[in-house]
Amino acid sequence: MNRELVITIDGPAGAGKSTVSKLLAKRLGYIYVDTGAMYRAVAVLARDSEHANPLDESALEDICLGLDLQFINKNSVLYLLANGQDVTTEIRRPEISSLASAVSAQTVVRERLSEIQRRMGADGGVVLEGRDMGTVVFPDADVKFFLDANPEIRSKRRYLELEVKGEKTTPQEVYQQMVERDRNDSSRELAPLKSATDAIVVDSSHAQIEEVVQLMLGCIERKRKARSELLSTREA
Ligand code: DC
Repeated sequence: MNRELVITIDGPAGAGKSTVSKLLAKRLGYIYVDTGAMYRAVAVLARDSEHANPLDESALEDICLGLDLQFINKNSVLYLLANGQDVTTEIRRPEISSLASAVSAQTVVRERLSEIQRRMGADGGVVLEGRDMGTVVFPDADVKFFLDANPEIRSKRRYLELEVKGEKTTPQEVYQQMVERDRNDSSRELAPLKSATDAIVVDSSHAQIEEVVQLMLGCIERKRKARSELLSTREA
């Protein structure tokens, strides 16, 4: 069957995954799934729950049980609704970054979100970005990328993004929080941040966004070609 591809892009914070994934999805006419936003949404729901400790296992279980997450594309802006509530702006707050990293280490959260993500990508024609897309959620993805960049450059990019949004922070604070978050995301037992053995590793430290996108499109095109050649040999 010649279905459209499943493309995964994993990597640490600030490597450029969101920008690149959105552009790739747009050019390919694919769906874009930001799985980090989904962990962030759970963090917002946990913070706003009645439980004193947002990381309480039973609180997270309650949240995951009836969790409904929907991405809505309205006039080229991607909104995220969590149980019908628009959390698009709230999930980007700096304190939610650390809480999302903490909730993402919990089994109940990973299992529930992985299930929703698999459903979102089941029909192909999708670009999924995250930490474990190519290793755990879609181990058989058609094309896997691991997008990386050096920590100084990544934190500088993140700081500039936050500054534009008017968040009060300093470059040092952003750097420290990012390094700590990377450490938590890479050292956790469950689905840690790492490159899949069959992923194409791309370093965006000194590359322009367009260069990265073109490089990835080239890899995707080669994969498509190889697949259609294989299919026509089988049919012959
Ligand atoms: O990509 P992001 O910064 O929006 O992700 C927020 C947090 O969610 C990140 O610290 C780790 C977690 N995450 C994860 O564990 N697995 C994913 N597939 C995506 C994000």
